[in-house]
Amino acid sequence: MNNMAQKRPYLSVRGVSKHYDTAPDPRLGSGGLRVLDNISFTAQKGEFVTIVGPNGCGKTTFFRMLAGLEDLDYGRIIIGGKTIEEAKISYIFQNYRESLYPWRTCMGNLMVPLELDGVPRRERKKKVEEFLWRLDMSVREDAYPYELSGGQQQMLSILRGLIYEPDILLLDEPFSSLDFQTTLYIHDKIMEIWEKTGVTILFISHNIHEAVYLADKVVVFSKRPARVVEVLETNFPRPRTYKATESDQFFEVRTRVMELFREEIMDSLLFMELSGF
Ligand SMILES: Nc1ncnc2c1ncn2[C@@H]1O[C@H](COP(=O)(O)OP(=O)(O)OP(=O)(O)O)[C@@H](O)[C@H]1O
Ligand SMILES: [Mg+2]
Repeated sequence: MNNMAQKRPYLSVRGVSKHYDTAPDPRLGSGGLRVLDNISFTAQKGEFVTIVGPNGCGKTTFFRMLAGLEDLDYGRIIIGGKTIEEAKISYIFQNYRESLYPWRTCMGNLMVPLELDGVPRRERKKKVEEFLWRLDMSVREDAYPYELSGGQQQMLSILRGLIYEPDILLLDEPFSSLDFQTTLYIHDKIMEIWEKTGVTILFISHNIHEAVYLADKVVVFSKRPARVVEVLETNFPRPRTYKATESDQFFEVRTRVMELFREEIMDSLLFMELSGF
């Protein structure tokens, strides 16, 4: 590999800006809601990157652009040398109930990406079984999504996203509606799967502890229109266990992310204070 190839990041987000056309606001006199303002950051192949930012700052909009569901106003996104149109992207929504096909069994759901890729019917099941074996995972093949717990459903949709062999996996607050106990389990599981597949992950989280625990790199967004306030590297050892959360290094990064986050939400904290919260 030459030096240029070594230096080039796998994911490059440069100067990405976005607004939505909205009805004119009589107070501001103009239409248009600025959502993203010159977002730039990079990631290496196989990195686990988490994104935190205030409510409504534009995180999901950013993911929708990465997934090709929204146009960019300005900027450029390159994933593994490909444009968004060329790259394979798996986007897992927060609400797993909306993402799985309720009329299909677990196996039926897992086979969807293979069907879309044109894999012949008789090979699909075998491929899913091989994939699960490689990850040391098992699913209740003939069960329907409604028969599974929330955590199992979300894991199923993540597995389905991975069968597609994406260049990047986007997870938009995937665990926010799960209970604490399930979340602890699923944190370990997602890291195990990530290490086995080597997939590059972008993960939006509202939970700063989770964002720091899972990440190689935490990208902090400002309030809307979102800018990148800071990118923090976490260098705690892998494979990561809850022991990592007791280290000074963990406290340092978490405290810094918290400080940045609080600065960004200061206005709304003040508003809550004044409104008698
Ligand atoms: N299609 C749209 N048209 C107009 N405005 C939109 C549209 N989609 C989102 N918005 C607005 O853009 C802003 C950013 O929304 P977005 O969902 O990206 O934020 P977010 O950071 O993901 O929020 P949350 O923390 O609640 O998940 C919000 O003010 C939202 O109301
Ligand atoms: Mg969102």
